[in-house]
Amino acid sequence: MAYILETHDLTKRYGQKEAAKNVNLHVEEGKIYGLIGRNGAGKTTIMRMISGLSTPTGGSYSLFGKSGMGMKRMLKYVGVLIEHPGLYPRLSAYDNLKIKCVALGIRKKGYVEELLQLVGLENVDKKKGAGSFSLGMRQRLGIALALVGDPKLIILDEPINGLDPQGIVEVRETLARLRDERGISIMISSHILDELAKVADSYGIIHEGTLLDEFSAEELHKRSGRYMLIRTDNTAETLRVLEMIGVRNAQAQHDGSIRVDQYLDQTAAISRAIVQSGIGLNEIFLNSLSLEDYYLGMTGGEHNG
Ligand SMILES: Nc1ncnc2c1ncn2[C@@H]1O[C@H](COP(=O)(O)OP(=O)(O)OP(=O)(O)O)[C@@H](O)[C@H]1O
Ligand SMILES: [Mg+2]
Repeated sequence: MAYILETHDLTKRYGQKEAAKNVNLHVEEGKIYGLIGRNGAGKTTIMRMISGLSTPTGGSYSLFGKSGMGMKRMLKYVGVLIEHPGLYPRLSAYDNLKIKCVALGIRKKGYVEELLQLVGLENVDKKKGAGSFSLGMRQRLGIALALVGDPKLIILDEPINGLDPQGIVEVRETLARLRDERGISIMISSHILDELAKVADSYGIIHEGTLLDEFSAEELHKRSGRYMLIRTDNTAETLRVLEMIGVRNAQAQHDGSIRVDQYLDQTAAISRAIVQSGIGLNEIFLNSLSLEDYYLGMTGGEHNG
């Protein structure tokens, strides 16, 4: 497996507090990696370290298969958007990008126009200052700025935070386009889990500085698949009936409902069997477990994002 980014027990300590603890994460080349965690989980801390903006207090990481000094040279292939993009509010999107190009010594003709197109800002009034952009437009300009210099990996800290649904869709489409048309690898953090579920190829769950789990979209799909939920006035008797008609692995939940993971197309037959046994059937329906549910189940407690 070719990892474009890998961390090895990456740790950051602020005084007594370990904001990142022995983090081992793996970003595949040409894929979108979603780093998921609540406020204060350690997302920004990790992203700052792997962008070269802060120094780990423990562990290390490798970029493009290189570690140590070799890795440091690779940082020029990493584009970063952490927290708010530093925009010049009076300048247009074009001029904001042009300034960064000049700073990096990029003089290619049509380069800025191409970046604007890549993030869907090509039709914005050329005189409009970035200060009057919508939040979504500003985030996309921030992504364009991270793309100056043709990075192979971009690190985006919460680029969809605070966006309206339309803005979220636009950023999501932009990211998919960068991956599919440019082969750019992307690491994106968020606490809006279900939005990330529509764009990421794999996920890392960070909680109180620790990477709790890492899994692919495919694994997530398996873990969070559809299931049948049955609520009756007699859970024990219902489980007996289910077993009798050949439905195995039916599980009683803590609230007395029953979860079934097979025969999902047989709700009619199953409800008939339950009713014919004289049990009061309150509900039977198909449910699906979202990434949000999965994550909450794992970290416990309320989602505070
Ligand atoms: N410079 C710093 N000095 C001391 N503590 C810090 C510093 N930066 C971050 N922390 C602490 O480290 C922990 C992780 O913070 P971090 O900003 O990485 O979380 P986050 O997941 O990005 O949260 P958010 O969703 O709010 O952006 C927090 O408890 C934070 O208070
Ligand atoms: Mg943060």
